Amino acid sequence: MSRTLFPFLPFPIFPPQASTLATRTDHLLYWLLAMSGVMTVAIAGLILWFSIRYRRRPGNEVATQVEGSNRLEIAWTAAPVVLFMLTYAWGAGIYFFAYSAPHDALELYGVGKQWMWKFQHLSGQREINELHVPVGRAVKVLLTSQDVIHSFYVPAFRVKQDAIPGRYTEIWFEATAPGRYHLFCAEYCGTLHSGMIGSVVAMEPAAFEQWLAGGATASPAQRGEKLFQDLGCNTCHRSDALARAPDLTGLLGRRVRLRDGRTLIADEAYVRESILDPAAKVVDGYEPIMPTFKGLVTEEGILDLIAYVRSLAPVEKVGP
Ligand code: CUA
Repeated sequence: MSRTLFPFLPFPIFPPQASTLATRTDHLLYWLLAMSGVMTVAIAGLILWFSIRYRRRPGNEVATQVEGSNRLEIAWTAAPVVLFMLTYAWGAGIYFFAYSAPHDALELYGVGKQWMWKFQHLSGQREINELHVPVGRAVKVLLTSQDVIHSFYVPAFRVKQDAIPGRYTEIWFEATAPGRYHLFCAEYCGTLHSGMIGSVVAMEPAAFEQWLAGGATASPAQRGEKLFQDLGCNTCHRSDALARAPDLTGLLGRRVRLRDGRTLIADEAYVRESILDPAAKVVDGYEPIMPTFKGLVTEEGILDLIAYVRSLAPVEKVGP
């Protein structure tokens, strides 16, 4: 539709219409363009015509002063009022449609951070700078930000919503055609703002279910590494001088000495316990400062984290 509007142009004037909101928004825009266009042509045309028709010529008559005409004034007041109120009601209707998500919408979470979009499906699937959604089903994205204000913007869906730190905002859309659509950050958020882009992948419902169940996007260790960073584990568990918690490299299978003098062989259950109940077995030489991640990480997430810790190969100790 949008491309065929100007078929002679080598580039599209409008982004594709790929959501139930897109056509509504565009129809209102066409109406506004038409109204402005008609007025512009009428006014410019009259100016041109009058300035030629009534230009100064020898023997011109002197114009007679026209006093006010109530009928004319009522007409040119009432006509715009009707047009503007119509536009207002039309726009308000679209606004209410755009900002009230259907109750049965598929929910998912989106987090903006400098400079990427992170999405999480309720089934546990996580993605970065890519968002998979089904076609023909309302999708509600609960947005927040980890640092500064970002804005979730998908032109093909005609949706834009700020992601604000410390607050949840929401946006919903229903994709109408399978495809890959641009996702932008539409709020200047720092140096790499222009690189904070990604894509929304709209899929047929069956393909989406398959994608959701498959998770062939990353290995458990890769997901675990992502989770390790997402949960901020890497701010304390590190190998440099800023470490406030043990480096986890080569942990699994290693003998660990605890604060209370006990020792144990680190296994999966120990890693899991340390994530959910960190104070239970604190490693010798460290303070029990780690917060619990109970409720913050799913069992699959814990498995991913364990897979990640397992993937950290032991390195040769250098120095004395
Ligand atoms: Cu995030 Cu601009």
